[in-house]
Amino acid sequence: MKVLIVGSGGREHALALKLKQSPKVEKLYCAPGNAGIGEAAETVDIGVADIPALVKFCADNAIDYVVVGPELPLTLGLTDALAAAGVRAFGPTKEAARLEGSKAFAKDFMKRHGIPTGAYAVFHAGEADKAKAFARGLPGPWVVKADGLAAGKGVLICQYMDDTDKAIEEILDKKAFGDAGNALVIEEYLDGEELSLMAFSDGSTVVPMLTAQDHKRIFDHDEGPNTGGMGAYAPAPAGTPELVRQACRDILEPVVAGMAAEGRVFRGVLYAGLMLTERGPMVLEFNARFGDPEAEVVLPLLENDLLDILEACSDGGLERMPIRWKDGSCVTVVLAAAGYPGNPRGGDVIRGLGQTPPGITVYHCGTALDAQGRMVTAGGRILSVTAPGQTLREAVDLAYTGVGAVGFDGCQYRRDIAKRALPGAK
Ligand code: AMP
Ligand code: GLY
Repeated sequence: MKVLIVGSGGREHALALKLKQSPKVEKLYCAPGNAGIGEAAETVDIGVADIPALVKFCADNAIDYVVVGPELPLTLGLTDALAAAGVRAFGPTKEAARLEGSKAFAKDFMKRHGIPTGAYAVFHAGEADKAKAFARGLPGPWVVKADGLAAGKGVLICQYMDDTDKAIEEILDKKAFGDAGNALVIEEYLDGEELSLMAFSDGSTVVPMLTAQDHKRIFDHDEGPNTGGMGAYAPAPAGTPELVRQACRDILEPVVAGMAAEGRVFRGVLYAGLMLTERGPMVLEFNARFGDPEAEVVLPLLENDLLDILEACSDGGLERMPIRWKDGSCVTVVLAAAGYPGNPRGGDVIRGLGQTPPGITVYHCGTALDAQGRMVTAGGRILSVTAPGQTLREAVDLAYTGVGAVGFDGCQYRRDIAKRALPGAK
């Protein structure tokens, strides 16, 4: 089969390396990809939001199957446009992807279907005063979220009422997140440990993957601003079998059934961002795709041919597909550019690639080749240095050995990835 991956980050590099293992894949493309992905797939210079150009590329090149990585093309209707052109694809339709594309939709959906999530209300342009009044009725801290996609930056957690008022004004009146802020959600603050629970869904059957934990803040000890994710590990000890059973029963299964009942059949990866509270697992957000960097630690632990599972999701029959996982753990440490998550600097030469110890995989998140053919930084997150291990401790140690072997000027990374899950951590 000729397969096209859409996207350009570490997640898409992990998808590419996993799909390359499939005997059914005879040719792999990636649009737009990056320099590292270019070593595994033929990269195609089409952006993820250029739906007509992606559909045309598939028609011109007889592409058999498309795997959509990021949320933007899903919310713009890429899988719908491909289906209309007779091209099979992995990923939810535009209507189903609203679960990620609109936080107000997701919260209202959860309310309709009795899915555990924090108390909330939705406000639109011109309702800043009403929003401020609602916030005053909640205990702090206050969680203010722009409704639409904002590259992980649209969630503001405010310690003081003054900051909450300001956040509401920034989003609704000053349009700090553009049209993503046409509406906002104010939400109860939930306390606990976070867990990423991703699942495969064919629209009726839902099968959880191994659990993972992401590290969203830029600095050690969860300090500093939020990022796209600075590292991850899987499986997460906090995701016990009992907890996963509970989350399937109370969250994943009712979501898939509820979406089908509303005529928005959800086929693809359903990612539930959970907070493990004293009241049980509660939903912070849904994503309609693999997490990044969660994909970099979960996909290497998958035994199956990934393409078989993706096709079962898009075509049906997931209930007949035995999904098997490897023993052991996987850890990834993200190396980010100077300036990230603000304005990252590009063009720094990357050293040490190809010299990492055996067992390490370096996924490329944001790299390019410069005029002299050198691998350079090009983006915020640059590399995702990933290692397996029989134990989590082994995986952590090997990943950091890998981190020591590569680098670039201004490189930032966290020293405490997976630390809280290691034996002896509190
Ligand atoms: P989201 O994009 O909705 O997952 O939000 C980004 C991050 O903000 C989450 O990973 C949490 O760390 C935090 N967060 C979001 N919603 C809440 C909430 N209701 N209570 C506490 N923290 C939250
Ligand atoms: N790692 C969080 C996300 O992919 O949204």
